[in-house]
Amino acid sequence: MRKILEDIRVLDLTHVWFGPWCTLMLAELGAEVIKIEPPWGALGRIPQMGPAYGGVSATFHHFNLNKKDMAINLKHPKGKEIFKELVKISDVVVENFTPGTMEKLGLGYEDLKKIKPDIIYAALSGFGQTGPYALRPSYAVIAEAMAGFTRAQGDIVDPNGPPINMTGAFGDLGPGTMAAMCIIAAIRYRDKTGKGQMIDVAQTDCMMAYHTNVTAYFLSGKTEVERRKEMEELRKKMGRVYIGGILKVKDGWIQVAGWRAKGIDALKKKLGMKELDREAVLKHIENMTREEAVNFFVEVGLPVAPIYYASEAVHDPHILSRNLFVELEHPKAGKIKVLNFPVKFSETPGEVHSPAPLLGQHNKEILINYLGYTEEEVEQLEKEGVIVTEKL
Ligand SMILES: CC(C)(COP(=O)(O)OP(=O)(O)OC[C@H]1O[C@@H](n2cnc3c(N)ncnc32)[C@H](O)[C@@H]1OP(=O)(O)O)[C@@H](O)C(=O)NCCC(=O)NCCS
Repeated sequence: MRKILEDIRVLDLTHVWFGPWCTLMLAELGAEVIKIEPPWGALGRIPQMGPAYGGVSATFHHFNLNKKDMAINLKHPKGKEIFKELVKISDVVVENFTPGTMEKLGLGYEDLKKIKPDIIYAALSGFGQTGPYALRPSYAVIAEAMAGFTRAQGDIVDPNGPPINMTGAFGDLGPGTMAAMCIIAAIRYRDKTGKGQMIDVAQTDCMMAYHTNVTAYFLSGKTEVERRKEMEELRKKMGRVYIGGILKVKDGWIQVAGWRAKGIDALKKKLGMKELDREAVLKHIENMTREEAVNFFVEVGLPVAPIYYASEAVHDPHILSRNLFVELEHPKAGKIKVLNFPVKFSETPGEVHSPAPLLGQHNKEILINYLGYTEEEVEQLEKEGVIVTEKL
């Protein structure tokens, strides 16, 4: 076996961030992921704001590596027929529409199970397929707000100030990772039992699971505000000096996670301190460059990093040494550099081999080679607007 998921075919109806991130991981682990977009293109294809690269958003390039693409009108009877034929030869269907959308199309789990009983169907949504808010549309920020992260983020700056949005759409990427993991688990179950299943992945559920404050609340019975007060009092009582955090140096900022006991001892020794003196440490590093300050903390064994923009991180020699980037040729954007699969396997490495596809790029190949359509039939479907193929 060259790629760990090489015998798995995924029909990928996902259209923006949360879903495409999930299927990207499957594609990078070797699954054949066929994106099914509407003829007008998936939501994440066209940037709502900002520039396009070869006609699509930067995030479309990021999330759709290794994928094949069909643009099929699923509201057209012939489009539905093609999709059902594809389901018969696939292992997994993934979508991240508002709940109920696939059922309205006649393509929900119960419909698809009738034509492919062992299909694994992952429905990704904001609030899940059940419950009072199930039918609400959602984005990452909604789940982050629901699960307590937006308030917690604001509290870092000022507990009495406004909540602050997290950056990086963690509310998409975290739950999307969970979805990929659960799809792979369901494949293992299907391989052992012959049974498919429906997987209901809600952004809000996953964000609740990511939030350790939930368990802290259940255990202590105290709210975040009460626990913060308690922690502050405890810290004062113990006279604990904390050296870490975001520290300013001559030409920027560094991050020190100063909880390592060995590192604190080495730091005290290096600076000739009996007790840790935070002000003296800050004074010691304030005229250092970012690089010098990082080296200083590395030497004493405290976890440390320069605080980078992503555009700086990509030039760091360590990051460059980890085979994280791949150069590809995109038919419209030209030569592009993208992220490689980040986790290393000794036997079955992940791989990035092709850029995000053009709209309907593989219509013809899949219809003819997998479903037995003729060239003429494909042309006819194109004329009728059932499929759309982007021109080069
Ligand atoms: C993200 C979201 C708010 C976007 O809302 P939206 O653009 O109105 O999209 P919806 O999912 O509600 O609906 C998609 C529509 O496209 C249609 N569509 C999708 N693929 C199609 C295709 N291949 N052919 C024809 N129609 C298609 C659907 O039938 C549906 O049409 P309808 O509105 O007539 O029912 C919503 O999809 C959502 O809440 N998703 C779940 C949570 C999520 O993943 N959020 C995004 C995180 S980044």
